[in-house]
Amino acid sequence: MDTVTLHDKTFRPFISEDEIQSAIKQTALQIQKDYEGLCPVFMGVLTGSFLFTADLVREFKGDCEVSFMRVASYEGTETTGEVKEVLGIKENLEGRHVVIIEDIVDTGNTLEKLFEIVKKHNPASLKIATLLYKPKAYTKNIPIDYASMEVGNEFLVGYGLDYDGLGRNLKDIYILTE
Ligand code: IMP
Ligand code: MG
Repeated sequence: MDTVTLHDKTFRPFISEDEIQSAIKQTALQIQKDYEGLCPVFMGVLTGSFLFTADLVREFKGDCEVSFMRVASYEGTETTGEVKEVLGIKENLEGRHVVIIEDIVDTGNTLEKLFEIVKKHNPASLKIATLLYKPKAYTKNIPIDYASMEVGNEFLVGYGLDYDGLGRNLKDIYILTE
């Protein structure tokens, strides 16, 4: 695989499509076991988690519902820590088993805000599934129930993750070169 250039930065291959897909299969199996007979609501966080949500739910066998919510918190390659809810929740989540689907958990600022928003809807249970987790950057106490892959504090793009809007369509995940 070759490097890719997005705007002014160059990225090199980091996690292959095959590795991503097999990690997702394992996570789906784990969730399937935990939610047997419960018809969970998978709440994807746009835009970053659109591919992860699509692939995760296709590996999940059993009844489930799929929905999306949108927040914004990141500009360029550094987290701003500021979270704005852009698109709200339309479903009735009261008494439902909700799983928030994130692309990546970095500081956890976004996740904390999402938790507050979803909790207000009185779900029966609320868990988090993320494709990528940066444990060294995480500053919150909310448990990360399902993390398909743990990574360092590097800036990544591809498979839903963007650098200023670009790179989401890449099938593999790439890392910023020095
Ligand atoms: P947090 O609020 O600091 O946890 O940041 C979470 C959000 O920042 C994610 O949902 C992503 O949109 C974005 N983000 C964090 N790390 C990366 C990265 O390495 N590449 C691209 N986006 C990232
Ligand atoms: Mg995101």
